[in-house]
Amino acid sequence: MTIIRIVCIRIFTMLAVVLFAAAVKAEERSLYQRLGGHDAIAAVSDEFIARLAADDQEKRFFIGFSNDSKLRIRQHLVDLVCKSTGGPCVYTGRDMKTAHAGARITKADWDRSLKIFCEVLNKFKVPDKEQELAALLIPLEKDIVEKATCASHARRHRRLRAATGRRAGTARRALRAGPQWQAQKSA
Ligand code: HEM
Repeated sequence: MTIIRIVCIRIFTMLAVVLFAAAVKAEERSLYQRLGGHDAIAAVSDEFIARLAADDQEKRFFIGFSNDSKLRIRQHLVDLVCKSTGGPCVYTGRDMKTAHAGARITKADWDRSLKIFCEVLNKFKVPDKEQELAALLIPLEKDIVEKATCASHARRHRRLRAATGRRAGTARRALRAGPQWQAQKSA
């Protein structure tokens, strides 16, 4: 075997070892690291909150919070996502059941929020593999969504009636129509 052949074999072996080690290392990287760390998670969280707060179906949940309270919720969301993806953050907020109890978030609200979340991941061009982040949310549904009961149904009817002075069916249509209906009502 010539010297050149021996050198070539050695170089290829070393290259293979380096590539294998790099592949193993890539596998070992946490989802937090693969997403791009704290700043990337903060950007995704900010966009998610901004879209929820501007969404016709979801915005009712975010009315009435002071700026400081909104910042606290935002920081807790960033910390929770950071921690759940293997990042170095500490989550000091409430558990999901306590934080959302009484908000009457429905399954439809939940499904819509997931759709919005996926749109945000796409906007930030999060690769398919890292979109496993969305899967981390799924188990939270049971703590965030409240089951409708007869009492909650009746409460909703009363609320709609108080807000619009109409029966629930008409009231829902009126609320969907928004200011247009308000104008008709006062005419
Ligand atoms: C339909 C979807 C959702 C709605 C409408 C919603 C709404 C809210 C509201 C109104 C609050 C403020 C509660 C308060 O401070 O009184 C809140 C807090 C919070 N939410 Fe959600 N949420 C939704 C989904 C999620 C999801 C998917 C996550 C997790 C990734 C999440 C994580 C949090 C966190 C960390 C807080 C702050 C808890 C604290 O400050 O102790 N929420 N949410």
